[in-house]
Amino acid sequence: MKHTIHVDLDARGYDIHVGTDLPAETLELSADGERALIVSDANVDPLYGDAVAALLEARGFMPARAVVPAGEKTKNMRHVAALYADCVAAGLDRRAVVVALGGGMVGDLAGFVAATFLRGVRLVQVPTSLLAMVDSSVGGKTGVNLKSGKNLVGAFYQPVTVLADLRRLESLPEREFRSGLAEVVKYGVIWDAELFRTLEREADAIGRRDFGVLEPIVARCCEIKAEVVAVDERESGVRSILNFGHTLGHGIEQVSGYGGRWLHGEAVSLGMVYAAALSTAARGFATDDRDRLRALLSALGLPVHPGAEGFEGGWTALRDAMNTDKKTRGRVPRFVLAERIGAVVFDCVVDETVLREAFSAAFADSN
Ligand SMILES: NC(=O)c1ccc[n+]([C@@H]2O[C@H](COP(=O)([O-])OP(=O)(O)OC[C@H]3O[C@@H](n4cnc5c(N)ncnc54)[C@H](O)[C@@H]3O)[C@@H](O)[C@H]2O)c1
Repeated sequence: MKHTIHVDLDARGYDIHVGTDLPAETLELSADGERALIVSDANVDPLYGDAVAALLEARGFMPARAVVPAGEKTKNMRHVAALYADCVAAGLDRRAVVVALGGGMVGDLAGFVAATFLRGVRLVQVPTSLLAMVDSSVGGKTGVNLKSGKNLVGAFYQPVTVLADLRRLESLPEREFRSGLAEVVKYGVIWDAELFRTLEREADAIGRRDFGVLEPIVARCCEIKAEVVAVDERESGVRSILNFGHTLGHGIEQVSGYGGRWLHGEAVSLGMVYAAALSTAARGFATDDRDRLRALLSALGLPVHPGAEGFEGGWTALRDAMNTDKKTRGRVPRFVLAERIGAVVFDCVVDETVLREAFSAAFADSN
C-alpha cells in the first residue's frame, strides 16, 4: 500500500509519498542528465546513500553525494558554507535538485542550502527518522542554529516532493523511534480523536514497528500537517497548534542542553503532560482525557515524569526558559491548550499561579 498526500499550496503544492519499499517512479521528477546533490549524515549515508543515488539515476539524474557529521551540532552556518562548496563542485545549476536524505537535522540543513543556493534550487525530502517523516520534512521550514539559539536563521521553502519510505525506519535507533512517536501523539490531540484512539489500540504493534499498522498512521500525520500548513504556511495563526506541548518541551531542551538528557520528542512528551494539566486547570480539559494522554505516552515508551532527580534547575529554570519561546510576548508565554482530545485552542495566556500549580500537579514529587 502507498499513500499520497497533496500539500495544497497552489503553484508550490507538492505530494508526500508514504509507503514501504517505494519504487523509483514514486519520485515524480525525471531528468535528462541534470545534476543532483544528495546530502546525508554519516549514519544515514552508508545505509541508504547508494539506493537513493540509484533511484535518482533511474530517473535520469546525475547524483553526487555530500556527507556531514551526524548530530544537531552540524546544523550551523559553517556546514551551510561547506555544502555551498559541494553544490559548486557537483556542478549544480538552476535545474538541479538537492536531496535531503536523513532525519530532521539533515532536512533543515540541506533544505536551507536548497532554498538559498542560486536563490533556490529544487528540494526533495527523503526523511529517514520518524520525526522527519511526520513532521520536519513536511511544511517547508528550513534553517540552522546560531550559537545564541536554535533555528534562528532559516527560510520557508517547500520541497517539490517528499518520499517517506517506512522501510528506512528499520535501522532507526529505538530511542529515536520512540521520540518521534511524541509528535504522532500530538497530532491526535490537536486534530484527530480517531487517530488518538488508533494509537491507544495499536500501541504494542506501533512499538514493534509493524509497518502495516504504522503506514496509515504516518500518512494521517502528514495529512494533518499538510492541512494545517495549507491554511497557514507562515505560522501567523493556526499553524501554531503544532506547538502543543512544545512551550515547556523547548524549555526542557534548552535547560538540559540540546542533545543532552532529553531527546526532542521526550521533552515534547513531558511538555504535553504539562500542557494537559494546564488545559485541565484553564480550559476544562476532562481529567479522564488528561489521564488517557499520559497513559498513551507511557504505553509508547515516552517519559511522563522526570524521575526522582527531577528537572535540572526545577520550575524556576524552566519558567525562565519559557520566556525565550518564540510565542512569548513580554515574558508572557502563549500556550496551545486542549479542550478535548482532537480539539485545541492557541494563543492562550494562563495566570502565573496556575502555571506553577499545573507544573506541581503534572509532576508531583518532582522539584
Ligand atoms: N523543519 C521543521 O518543521 C522541523 C520540525 C521538527 C523538528 N525539526 C528539526 O529536526 C531535527 C531533529 O530531527 P531528528 O529527530 O530526525 O534528528 P536527527 O536528524 O539528528 O536524527 C537523529 C539520529 O538518528 C539518525 N538516523 C536518522 N535516520 C536514521 C535511520 N533510518 N537509521 C539509522 N539512523 C538514523 C541520525 O543520524 C541521528 O543520529 C532538529 O534539528 C529539529 O530542529 C524541524
